[in-house]
Amino acid sequence: MRKQITQPGASKLRYEIRNITAVAKKIENTGVPIVWENIGDPISKGEHIPQWIREKVSNVSNQNSVYAYSPTKGLDETREYIARERNLEGSAQITADDILFFNGLGDAITKIYTNLHQNARVIGPNPAYPTHASAEAAHADSPYLSYHLNPHNAWEPDLAELEQKITDNKDIVAILIINPDNPTGFVYPRDTVLRIVALAKKYDLFIISDEIYSNLAYPKSGFHKLASVIGSVPAIAMRGISKEFPWPGARCGWIEFYNRAHDEIFFHYTEALCNSKTLEVCSTTLPQKVLPEVMNDARYYPHLTHRMQLYAQRSARAVEAFDALAECIVHHAHGAFYLSIVFNDGILNNNQSLPLGTEAQNIILPHLENAPLDQRFTYYLLAKTGICVVPLSVGFNSDYDGFRMTLLEPDEERFDKTISVLLSAIREYIAS
Ligand SMILES: Cc1ncc(COP(=O)(O)O)c(C=O)c1O
Repeated sequence: MRKQITQPGASKLRYEIRNITAVAKKIENTGVPIVWENIGDPISKGEHIPQWIREKVSNVSNQNSVYAYSPTKGLDETREYIARERNLEGSAQITADDILFFNGLGDAITKIYTNLHQNARVIGPNPAYPTHASAEAAHADSPYLSYHLNPHNAWEPDLAELEQKITDNKDIVAILIINPDNPTGFVYPRDTVLRIVALAKKYDLFIISDEIYSNLAYPKSGFHKLASVIGSVPAIAMRGISKEFPWPGARCGWIEFYNRAHDEIFFHYTEALCNSKTLEVCSTTLPQKVLPEVMNDARYYPHLTHRMQLYAQRSARAVEAFDALAECIVHHAHGAFYLSIVFNDGILNNNQSLPLGTEAQNIILPHLENAPLDQRFTYYLLAKTGICVVPLSVGFNSDYDGFRMTLLEPDEERFDKTISVLLSAIREYIAS
């Protein structure tokens, strides 16, 4: 090309959750069956959509209107339904006009950051779901700005660090929280969210709360939607049906604007988001049409409760097993369906390995040059055992060495077997 054609921040786009799949496929071809623990897709992991949800989707698909475009912001009746629900529990009152549908939250995340001024930065958690971290870093063409979730304090965020960074960096315009959190399973206590809201108010920032797992906050987790504590601070909450129904293939998510008229600059930004969606015409119609029918059904919340019970039980069994390893830190998940296992400082080094055949070595070694220590561990684990987990460093923009696994395996025996193979592999790797 006669001149550079790629955006300056493009090299910051990285999604190890899927990148590792290419390596795993090569390992699979050597005859090692893969245990896919890398992607948070309940359906591909073997969960079944209840028959009554399938029937609703099937009935809706018989309506001619769902083959049409929808209004840019989303179907009116669906947005009205969501606004009504939110206002029942919310401290911020919204209307259908404050809701904007996207083709999945992945789409929404990209738009949120690409529509921000390049010098306007969002500070987010560490570790963090990589689409947020990558998209934010790419829009600013600068490293991701983060505050730590502290594994030594049950994954509570370090709010002193957060405030210090906000004070030091005048480019920060927003605070991101992911609640319940991916990859830690942490649920922000109400008081912690209130303190974050207070910081936003004090420094004239807005809040982005990714609540895609909000209906998967386990009972007694103490979860509160941002809407219930936001007061008068401008904010965006993000929700979707990928994890809830679960229907990730629907590519359906939405954002809710709180207090958007309270600040002219924020209002202008929300308008830019809506205008950029107009250029795309609209998001997929069918899942929007199904949404109120499913969520309003008396069977919906029992269905979610049942799934959460299974995740909580698996989390308890895994934590009990990992607690036997003094080299690792792990905490119960309180929401979503992930567990992050962190290696204590100094446990991993560059000389550790697991015994592999030449073929497997040839597949992973090219990826390990200058690789972070936890990535090195996960690639050896993959090649030796077929268990495919995601390293926290390159996978979740984290300073901690560790990995994320899921709580999605529906075959309980297989889940327990995976945990026990993982434990043996960690022991062998550390001792090597
Ligand atoms: C925290 C979080 N936000 C957003 C997404 C994207 O969801 P989707 O694009 O399927 O709506 C995910 C997917 O794993 C996620 O974990």
